[in-house]
Amino acid sequence: MAQRETFGSRAAVIMAMAGSAIGLGNIWRFPYTVGEGGGAAFIIVYLISSLLLAMPIFLAESIIGRTAQAGTFNAMDKLAPGSKWKWLGLLTVISPLIIVSFYSVVGGWSFEYLLKALTLSFGPESTDSIAPMFGNFASSTWGPVLCHTFFITATCLIVLAGVKKGIEKFAKLTMPVLLVLIVVIMIYAVSLPGAGEGVRYLLKPDFSKITGRVIASAMGQSFFSLSLGVGTILIYASYMKKEENLFTSGLGTAAFDLIFAMIAGFAVMPAVFAAGIEPGAGPGLIFETMPYIFAKMGAAAPWLSATIAILFFLTILVAALTSSISMVEAGVAYLTEEKGLTRRKAISILLPSTWALGVLCSLSFGPLSEVHILGCTIFDFCDKLTSNYLMAFGGLLFTFFVGWKMKKETVWNEFTCNGSQKFNCALFSLVYFLIKWVAPIGIVIIFITNLVL
Ligand code: TRP
Repeated sequence: MAQRETFGSRAAVIMAMAGSAIGLGNIWRFPYTVGEGGGAAFIIVYLISSLLLAMPIFLAESIIGRTAQAGTFNAMDKLAPGSKWKWLGLLTVISPLIIVSFYSVVGGWSFEYLLKALTLSFGPESTDSIAPMFGNFASSTWGPVLCHTFFITATCLIVLAGVKKGIEKFAKLTMPVLLVLIVVIMIYAVSLPGAGEGVRYLLKPDFSKITGRVIASAMGQSFFSLSLGVGTILIYASYMKKEENLFTSGLGTAAFDLIFAMIAGFAVMPAVFAAGIEPGAGPGLIFETMPYIFAKMGAAAPWLSATIAILFFLTILVAALTSSISMVEAGVAYLTEEKGLTRRKAISILLPSTWALGVLCSLSFGPLSEVHILGCTIFDFCDKLTSNYLMAFGGLLFTFFVGWKMKKETVWNEFTCNGSQKFNCALFSLVYFLIKWVAPIGIVIIFITNLVL
C-alpha cells in the first residue's frame, strides 16, 4: 500500500486547518451574529461555547481522523465495522452542500462589491448612500443571482479541474494580506467619530440579552467558524503525522480563528455605530459598514482607501472560495468514492442542485422575502438549519463516538502519541470529561430548550 501523505510540521498542520476554518464565517458571519446577539454578552457565551463544546468536538474529530487515517465513511467503517455509524458520513456530505448554497450567495455579494471597489464606488460623496446601496442590491432579482451563479460555477470548475492545490497556495499568500488589511481597517474604524459606542458594545456585557436563542446562535457560530461536525477537521487530522500533538494543533487553529473573528468584530462594530446602522441588521452588516469606512477614509487618502477596498474584497473572495471548494469537494468525494461516479458526472449533479438552492436563498432577500419556513426566510433557514442543528448534531455524534464507543486507552494514546510524549494527566482527564459528558449533554440541552421555546 502506498504511504499516505502527511503534513510536514506542526506549523503546516495549523496553517492548513486555520486556512480552511478562516473564511466568511469569521469576517461576515461573526460580526452580524454578534450584532444580532447583543454584543459583549454574546461574545462571552461564544467563548464559553468554543471552550466547552467546540474544542471537544474539534479534538473528537481529530482523534477519529488520525486513528483511522481515513475520511468519515471509511473511518467509521474501520473503527466500528458493520455498524450504522458509517451513515454519519452522509451528514458530512449533506451539510456542506446546504452550506455552500447560501455561502455562494454571500460569495456573490463579495464579488459584486469587488467590482464596486474596482469602479471606485465608495468615494467620500457616497457615505450616506452606502447602507441603502446594499439593501437595493441584495433585494433585486437578477444581480445577486448572477453573482451567485458566477461564484458557484467558479467553485465547481476549480474542483473539476483539480486546480484546488493552486488556489490553496494562492490563499496562503492572501491570508496574511487579509489579516493586515483588517487590522488596518480596525485601527481606522476605532478612530471614527462615534466609534467608542461600538467598542463599548463589544466590551461591556449586558447579561439580560442572553436567551436560549442567543446561546444556540453562539454555539452555531462557534461550530460554523471552525467547520465542525461535518468531517472537515476529521479529514485534515487523518493527514497528521502520528507524532504530531493533536491538542496543541487544535488549540492553535482555534486561536487563529478566534483572533480573526475578533479583529473583524472590532473593525465592523465601531463603524456600525459611527454610521448609525442597527447592529442587528443581519447578513448584510459588513457590506453596509466596510464601504462606509472606505468612504470616510477616502476623504483623507483616496488612493489608499481605494486600494484597501479592492484588496479587502479580493481577499475575502479568495477566502470564501477556498472554503466553498472544500464543501463541494466533500460531495464530489462521496459521489465518486461511494457511488462510483466520475468527477464530471458528480459535478453535473452538484452544480445545478446547489445553484438552485442558492437562487432561492438569494431571492429570499427580495421577491421571496415573504416566504418563511418555521419563521425564517429561506436564507436564514438554511443557515440556522446547518449551523445550529446539522453541524451540532454531527458534533454530538463525533463526541459521543469518542467518549462512549472508543476505548479511553486509544484516546490517551492519541494524546500522548502512543506514549512517546508527555501529556498532563489532570488535563487529559478534564478534556476527556468534556468530550464524554459536557459536549454531548450541552448540545442536547441547547437543542431541547430551542425546540421547546
Ligand atoms: N469555517 C469556514 C468559515 O468560517 C466555513 C467552512 C469551511 C465550512 N469549510 C466548511 C463550514 C465545511 C462547514 C463545513 O467560513
